[in-house]
Amino acid sequence: MTPYLLHGGDYNPEQWLHYAGVIDEDFRLFERARINALTVGVFSWAALEPEEGRFEFGWLDDIFARAERQGMRIILATPSGGKPNWLAHKYEEVRRVTRDGRREPQRTRHNHCLTSPVYREKVRAINVQLARRYGRHPALVLWHISNELNGYCFCPLCKQAFRDWLRAKYATLDALNEAWWARFWSHTITAWSQADATDDSVDGAILDWRRFMTHQCRTFIRNEVEPLREHSPGVPVTTNMMPFAEDYDYWELAPELDLISWDSYPRWHAGGDEPRVANEVALSHNLFRSMKPGRPFLLIESTPSQTNWMDVSPLKRPGLHRTASLQAVAHGADGVCYFQMRKGRGSHEQHHGAVIDHCGHPDTRVFREVTAVGEALDKLAGLVGSPVAAKVALIYDWPNRWALEHAATPQRAKNYQGTVQDMHRPFWDRGIAVDVIDSATALAGYELVVAPMLYLLRAGQAERLAAFVAGGGTLVATYQTGVVDETTLCWRGGPPGPLRDVLGLWVEEFDALPPDQTRRVEPVPAAGVAGASDVGRGLTGVYHARHYCELAHLDTATALAVYAEDFYAGRPAAMVNRHGRGRAYYLAARLDGRFLNDLLGELAADLQLPRALACPLPPGVTAQARGEGANRIIFAMNFNRAPAVVDLGGASYSDAETGAAVGGRLELPAFGCRLLRG
Ligand code: GAL
Repeated sequence: MTPYLLHGGDYNPEQWLHYAGVIDEDFRLFERARINALTVGVFSWAALEPEEGRFEFGWLDDIFARAERQGMRIILATPSGGKPNWLAHKYEEVRRVTRDGRREPQRTRHNHCLTSPVYREKVRAINVQLARRYGRHPALVLWHISNELNGYCFCPLCKQAFRDWLRAKYATLDALNEAWWARFWSHTITAWSQADATDDSVDGAILDWRRFMTHQCRTFIRNEVEPLREHSPGVPVTTNMMPFAEDYDYWELAPELDLISWDSYPRWHAGGDEPRVANEVALSHNLFRSMKPGRPFLLIESTPSQTNWMDVSPLKRPGLHRTASLQAVAHGADGVCYFQMRKGRGSHEQHHGAVIDHCGHPDTRVFREVTAVGEALDKLAGLVGSPVAAKVALIYDWPNRWALEHAATPQRAKNYQGTVQDMHRPFWDRGIAVDVIDSATALAGYELVVAPMLYLLRAGQAERLAAFVAGGGTLVATYQTGVVDETTLCWRGGPPGPLRDVLGLWVEEFDALPPDQTRRVEPVPAAGVAGASDVGRGLTGVYHARHYCELAHLDTATALAVYAEDFYAGRPAAMVNRHGRGRAYYLAARLDGRFLNDLLGELAADLQLPRALACPLPPGVTAQARGEGANRIIFAMNFNRAPAVVDLGGASYSDAETGAAVGGRLELPAFGCRLLRG
């Protein structure tokens, strides 16, 4: 998009048009903070189209002209995230209906109906205007569709569209009734008009409704994008996603977009464990990067200081803003943007962090930290467009999450998200790059695939995983794998369904532990692990299992660790199975962080997975590498409240910012990041 990394954020000049000098001052301050991009137009519909069909573009023309003069770029948003009053009041159907059938009043934002033909038409009409006017403007760098698309609508239009979608999917009522197991509780559907998405007891219906809403969102995006592609050829299109947001399957939305971007608002300092938060953020970066393999993404929103919507949002400690911003670049972002550039005087976000505060001048800690990010990004221009290479893939699957979280199983502490984070952590701790992939993503090129809680197995997925292992790959699966098929019907034969051969076991039942209980698990001495000299060596001492303790039977797998208490003492809790040229591990219990660290760490060493820094890293310190050849940068990041020292061993590097030689001891300030070449 640009030969430099983007640095900018959401800017709403329409709130300041009648304040003399403010916009002039903003542009002076942008230059000073090394801001090179502005996201404009988010929530600007009422300023752009104050009355139906009457458009006012003068103020936006002025912003484009200023940006061009100053060599800045504009990310132009379509305004559909917030509908104007005239629209919401004139056309009732654009307002969302809640699950219990209540039409929402015009209020807040993000609450339009995705199906409403009127809304789609009005959105398209303003997009046509915007695209015709600015689509070829030299300052335009990116289109930003809507804002944080989310939520469901249960209006009659959506319900009818759902039925049409079901009909296209299942063709016959028999097929629908089978998929939804509708004979249960006499829910058999005898006419399409009875198919309902509000009956929580029908797992298949709830899952299909979420898939359908994803489909509606996809076609909604398509409707927005078409005029942009027509009148603004070559300008990429994005929408700002949210970290692991529940409502839509982002993998299904990604093909409509040219660039993936996301909004990051971590809960820094709120819980006192910053490395844990940093691992969570890294996981999101890895997800969004992986949605367009080999291509960069954009951190399109982050706060330069605090948010105003968390219960408590402590100030970011000095240095953390720079490190968290560079973390995005390390994971593949081609820019760091903020919400917001200037605080509004009133209404809901007047107390939300901004580059320019109410004091109106640059002599603030936040402004200086933002400027420091701008300076660092300037020095990293060589990274633009460069990929991050990963040999580990972690599967994150929305339908699986939806089905798992909705299912009425004997254990409600499912915690899919936390499980995924926990399994990501050992790689983060070692500075190993991880891709986060969908169940449908091709596995070629990966050495290790980690599949946490793959409760729902899609058609063909077991075969793909088996082929990956047979071809020499390593798979790590866990409890609650292969329980249901893609319609949520239990696999006949029980778990792990069609993965039985590759995992070499079957699961008879699982013990659901109350939250305050654990069960001891002990490794099987390596000598006792027949034919498995290369696995499980690193397991030592006593581990603890929580929540899930499955009782499995080994077909061809070998136990690595066994339960050490309760009536199932001696039964396998972790096992490995050789399959073709590869290995498949199975964790039958939710084992603690030390176990995951020991096992996944051992696998990482065994598979010689590339690490950004070859030396051991102190706790809370991580490293990520990006770029190739002379442009390869290693980001060494300390997420501790205290300084840390990395013993680099014999390796030598140069500091990418100062050019100074770096060897021996690498000193990292508290919440600091050093950029190395070498
Ligand atoms: C985002 C949203 C922005 C702003 C921000 C505040 O979720 O896209 O418009 O509200 O939160 O943190």
